[in-house]
Amino acid sequence: MGLSINDTAPDFQADTTQGRIGFHEWIGDSWAVLFSHPKDFTPVCTTELGQVARLAPEFERRGVKVIGLSVDGTDSHRRWAGDIEETQGARPGYPIIGDTDLHVSKLYGMLPASEQGDAGSRCALDNLTVRSVFVISPDKTIKLIIAYPNVTGRNFTELLRAIDSLQLTARHRVVTPAGWHQGDDVMIHNSVSDEAARVIFGGWKSVKPYIRIVPQPR
Ligand code: BEZ
Repeated sequence: MGLSINDTAPDFQADTTQGRIGFHEWIGDSWAVLFSHPKDFTPVCTTELGQVARLAPEFERRGVKVIGLSVDGTDSHRRWAGDIEETQGARPGYPIIGDTDLHVSKLYGMLPASEQGDAGSRCALDNLTVRSVFVISPDKTIKLIIAYPNVTGRNFTELLRAIDSLQLTARHRVVTPAGWHQGDDVMIHNSVSDEAARVIFGGWKSVKPYIRIVPQPR
């Protein structure tokens, strides 16, 4: 069974480049991003781990802990981190899970539970579906899932934009329109009646009765 938005993120114990962790305990009261990779020393993934390393201050500013995963061991991840620093200009300061036995990849529905083998017997092409991003809220609920093909590098600036929306809509009864960025107008959540909306927001611009536009709450 795959995971869906609003499911509880499965907990697990794993070795990482920064020691053994219990996932829920590691998340603590923060938001978290888990992003996964089929194999170490692959070109697209190298650029992605580098982009996330360069964006570390942006994740930190939002109270988001980042963790990578790749279907190889942590010794290999540490050697890969050297290449990432050399080629991408930043070394991952976040932990990277060593998923040699595929346990986390299977637990998160990125590989079928029946899949055989381990990191040593599998190549990158065997693990192509291990290229997902999960955003998890402090209550350990999955809030966003993205799966990308191996040929297309992920855009982690877009992920930050989505996290801004998730964090805003967790605090206020609003939703964000397509392409929204911090400071743009938002819309009142459909579950809020006009009567309640008048109390909460005072008023709104209405294009249609179901599209009620208000400035972004602070
Ligand atoms: C890559 O990151 O470029 C890659 C990942 C999996 C298979 C092949 C390439």
